[in-house]
Amino acid sequence: MKRNNKIIAVAHLLFLAAIIVLSVLHSYGLKFGRFEKYIRMLRKSGKKIDNDNTSTNNNHSKKSNTPSLDYGTGNMFDLIATRYDFVNRLLALNMDMSWRRTMVQELGLLPGDKVLDLATGTADVAILIATEGLLAVDVNDSNACVNSNEDKVCINVGEKRTSSLEVLGLDPSQNMIAVGKEKVKALGLDDLVRLDIADARALSGVKDSSFDKATMSFGIRNVPEREKVLCEIHRVLKKNDNSKMAILEFSEPGEESGIMGFGARLFIRHVVPVIGALFSGAPTEYLHLQNSIKHFPSPSEFNALIANVKCGKGKKKSGGFHVEPVINMNFGSVQLYQASPF
Ligand SMILES: C[S@@+](CC[C@H](N)C(=O)[O-])C[C@H]1O[C@@H](n2cnc3c(N)ncnc32)[C@H](O)[C@@H]1O
Repeated sequence: MKRNNKIIAVAHLLFLAAIIVLSVLHSYGLKFGRFEKYIRMLRKSGKKIDNDNTSTNNNHSKKSNTPSLDYGTGNMFDLIATRYDFVNRLLALNMDMSWRRTMVQELGLLPGDKVLDLATGTADVAILIATEGLLAVDVNDSNACVNSNEDKVCINVGEKRTSSLEVLGLDPSQNMIAVGKEKVKALGLDDLVRLDIADARALSGVKDSSFDKATMSFGIRNVPEREKVLCEIHRVLKKNDNSKMAILEFSEPGEESGIMGFGARLFIRHVVPVIGALFSGAPTEYLHLQNSIKHFPSPSEFNALIANVKCGKGKKKSGGFHVEPVINMNFGSVQLYQASPF
């Protein structure tokens, strides 16, 4: 690592450590001038969110069946779209791309696959899938290279890339999609990645059995009707040996995850809302992130939900998913769920 990079990494860690200390001290009653405004807003929204959920929800044990207004709708993400990538990289110390990359690698992509990326946001996953497809094709002939999320990706400018993948990214947030479109265009991937507005609960514009793979990263947490989303994914996926769904999501690490899990819990509870509030200028939206992680089912509960969901038409719903074991990342705070439809 170059000396400059080392200095940046150390400064970054010190900065995060300072935020953790300030946040924890704050919870013991210390006051910090201008941050008070944010903290007061966070507390106020926090109480509202907790009141909405406490009757039925309590960290992995009791879940609400009532959709809450505080789930992350497209409108909410419209407010933070232009700063979303920056705050994400900052909060995850740039590790978020490696989590997405693991998901894409586990998909087992084949040339010609049609992939649907739900809650695509600013299209990070859609771009990774498309570039993965290009790498699987013949990169020796490439005459152009671009930097996509740190990886140097070579693409054949102007040539018809018949054997590569096609990706459709859908999201209800106009602004997230607008940022995604700019990124796709800048990378010259317009012919492989299409982005559009849609809610994962009702993919009315998408035909039955029309996709080989489906992904959703950090999006299912935002949708209260999770079975509905799973069954929409089930409907649009082909049912054969190549078909697969992959979902990436956060959870609060439990007590069993030891000291590192404790650190990750502290980070999610105290650092995420404060850094998110300061750098996005949208405190409530980043409080939502912390709360939605807290209220998301545990990994085993969510995998069981996928395994038990009944999809298909009519009264006799006979379709569902064969699930794979959950892959844990980042000290148990990020999970990869994988399943094949039948
Ligand atoms: C945390 S972002 C994740 C974006 C992207 N997948 C990523 O990995 O960065 C969550 C996304 O879920 C989207 N979203 C919210 N409600 C949704 C819904 N009902 N259906 C599909 N996407 C939804 C938001 O607009 C937002 O772009």
